[in-house]
Amino acid sequence: MEQTLEPTADAAWVLVDDGCDALRESDRETRFTVSNGFLAARASRAINQSRQRIAPPSTYVAGLFDTRDIERPVPELVPAPDWLQIRVSLPGGPLIQHFGPGPSHPLTLDMRRGLLLTECRLVEGSAVSLRLRLLRLTSQDQRALGLQLLHLETDEGETEITLEASMDGFDSDLTSERLEHEFGVWRTHLSGKGLAMSAAVALRIDGQTLLPTVLSPFRWSWTWRTRPGQVVCFDRLVALARSDAPDQDPGERARNVLDGARTKGWRRVVEQHETAWSNRWSRSDVKVEGDGTAQKALRFAVYHLNGAANPEDPRVSIGARALTGADYRGHVFWDTEIFLLPFYILTWPEAARSLLMYRFHTLDGARAKAAERGWRGAFYAWESTDTGLEATPEQAVGPDRQIIDILTGAQEQHISADVAYAVWQYWQATGDDEFLVAAGAEILLETGRFWASRAQPEADGLHHIRGVIGPDEYHENIDDNAFTNVMARWNIRRALEVAAMLREQWPAQWTALSRRLDLNESELEHWTGVAETMATGLDSGTGLFEQFTGYFDLEDVDLSAYAGRTVPMDVVLGRERTQQSQVIKQADVVALLALLPEEFAGAAGKKNFDYYEPRCGHGSSLSTALHGLVAARLGDVETALDYFHRTAAVDLADTKVAIGGGIHIAAQGGLWMMSVFGFAGLSLRSDGLAFAPHLPASWSSLSFSVQWRGRRLSVRVDQVNQQLEASLEVGEPMILIVGGRPYPLASEAPLILHLESPPP
Ligand code: BGC
Repeated sequence: MEQTLEPTADAAWVLVDDGCDALRESDRETRFTVSNGFLAARASRAINQSRQRIAPPSTYVAGLFDTRDIERPVPELVPAPDWLQIRVSLPGGPLIQHFGPGPSHPLTLDMRRGLLLTECRLVEGSAVSLRLRLLRLTSQDQRALGLQLLHLETDEGETEITLEASMDGFDSDLTSERLEHEFGVWRTHLSGKGLAMSAAVALRIDGQTLLPTVLSPFRWSWTWRTRPGQVVCFDRLVALARSDAPDQDPGERARNVLDGARTKGWRRVVEQHETAWSNRWSRSDVKVEGDGTAQKALRFAVYHLNGAANPEDPRVSIGARALTGADYRGHVFWDTEIFLLPFYILTWPEAARSLLMYRFHTLDGARAKAAERGWRGAFYAWESTDTGLEATPEQAVGPDRQIIDILTGAQEQHISADVAYAVWQYWQATGDDEFLVAAGAEILLETGRFWASRAQPEADGLHHIRGVIGPDEYHENIDDNAFTNVMARWNIRRALEVAAMLREQWPAQWTALSRRLDLNESELEHWTGVAETMATGLDSGTGLFEQFTGYFDLEDVDLSAYAGRTVPMDVVLGRERTQQSQVIKQADVVALLALLPEEFAGAAGKKNFDYYEPRCGHGSSLSTALHGLVAARLGDVETALDYFHRTAAVDLADTKVAIGGGIHIAAQGGLWMMSVFGFAGLSLRSDGLAFAPHLPASWSSLSFSVQWRGRRLSVRVDQVNQQLEASLEVGEPMILIVGGRPYPLASEAPLILHLESPPP
């Protein structure tokens, strides 16, 4: 066991925290979470000195949503039983964890192997001293499985000792349906979802098994005498399964998975988990030479991104805090489609497909939301859970402690176009026609239909979309938000394109789908007309988009005067003044520039960036990533690098952002996007992949892998030698476009291109 508990030696792969700052405990629990997209365990302490729960809930199972309060029915992810509890005691009481100089309670996240390793010393005066090491994982190979290992070495002391392993927190949010010694089934109160857990434990003292006393379900205890040099090894395997309907029993699955794991033993479980992680890393690692902080940030980002998705469950998506904390109640936002999908599409298409299938399965909820409001097609939930029905709370306490109405659920409508955008990107990058025909086309058509009904013609001959919120949530109830309208137009055009494509290439499927959706030629013609006359706020003279009607007339606040602030701008100025000002919460026109650069002709991209960047207060963790991406594409590499490090700091720096409520997974996705789309300048084209690299001066090289239409390629941008190296590892020859020129790439011959002349 000792070897398994040794972290990877290369410091670039591990995140270490000495665990001495009690006030940061909750942040640390978030940051060091182990997750596999189905089962997650925050890094809360396993060793408890009391039987009271001392930390917030620490285990989450994806999709386990329930509504706790019938008065205010907002579904939320309910915590699962915490299966990791350990208590070590002497006859007189629990052993005290030692927090002193030296290794007291260090946490090590071995990102390469997907493990959390902790250690502490348990002491009783000078008479007893034990060194305790722990490992936990949630298997990347078999997502239902969790494993805990404990290694206890006696340095000093001959005494009777008791180790109790138990489980916590299964009584508040779940009703227990069956509870046996090592097996339980629970139900959520209102949604009727089932959760089953099966567990197995074993303890060996110097190689000899000691049988436990079973105190109650999931509570075992062992008592023995310590002696210096004694080594005790404990392992606990758990298998969890979720079912979504009241009449489904998840019990059998949990039992089967556990039986399989018990038969192979924990060593093999660890081995298979590590192999699965190694496969993920070989497809998704990003290497930076020359900037250790950036390297660590990218490892951390890719670690959490790989832990957030589950390609095997198309009924769940990724919440704004993934499975690492309670903030935002596990709700799914545009974060997934815009900030996370790019990573999955290009490094893990199976996970991307599954995330998009979640949107396919929630189409009915989106159709119902549109219909309720008198529109057609699919209007996706701004905050989505398992049904696709709108889950945004209607009120909240604002920054000034006043109760405020939350309008995003009704007005932040760009979500429908964001989902369509991700569908199209996925199909472009993978060529997965089967998905397009079976699911993607319907999403594109129904979201296109939504916009065509949502935009209304007015006397000026244009179609307008009034009463929305754009990505910049400081401004509510606005008209013709450039981001929304241009994305809506793009969405309608892709819907028309997919209709034409289906009709031509898959006529039988087109006939069936168009019949089912009751879609006819005249409706498609109407869509064409709406797209052609959509108001966009573009001033063709200046090339500037007006963020929304009337934006240019609002108060222009000089944000540089508030450079030292420690709170968001809407707190500094107050809600009302912020709404009357040009201060933006987050990238909005800049977000449009990041997603649809082709909408910005010539120098318009730079012009819009230069105009909007100084007006942005970055009041959301999503903002800096898109600014960094755009700055890198525009060649302003040092500004981009600054945004990169600001984004990395959101979850990694112990400055001011408290992350106890979970990782900002969109910021992590944003780091990957900045590196690959920004610094390496990757863009998806119908004829191949294009690169226009601009590395920061301090990055001597940047390497990563991507997948494109069944191929796998590795790419390295070498700043020192000014070259781009690409090798095709799997798949048919393809075209790379570098500096605007096409180059064939085949598996026999890596491509090495000099980057002397920057791309036009
Ligand atoms: C941002 C949204 C985001 C949400 C969840 C909000 O503060 O403004 O754009 O989707 O957080 O991350």
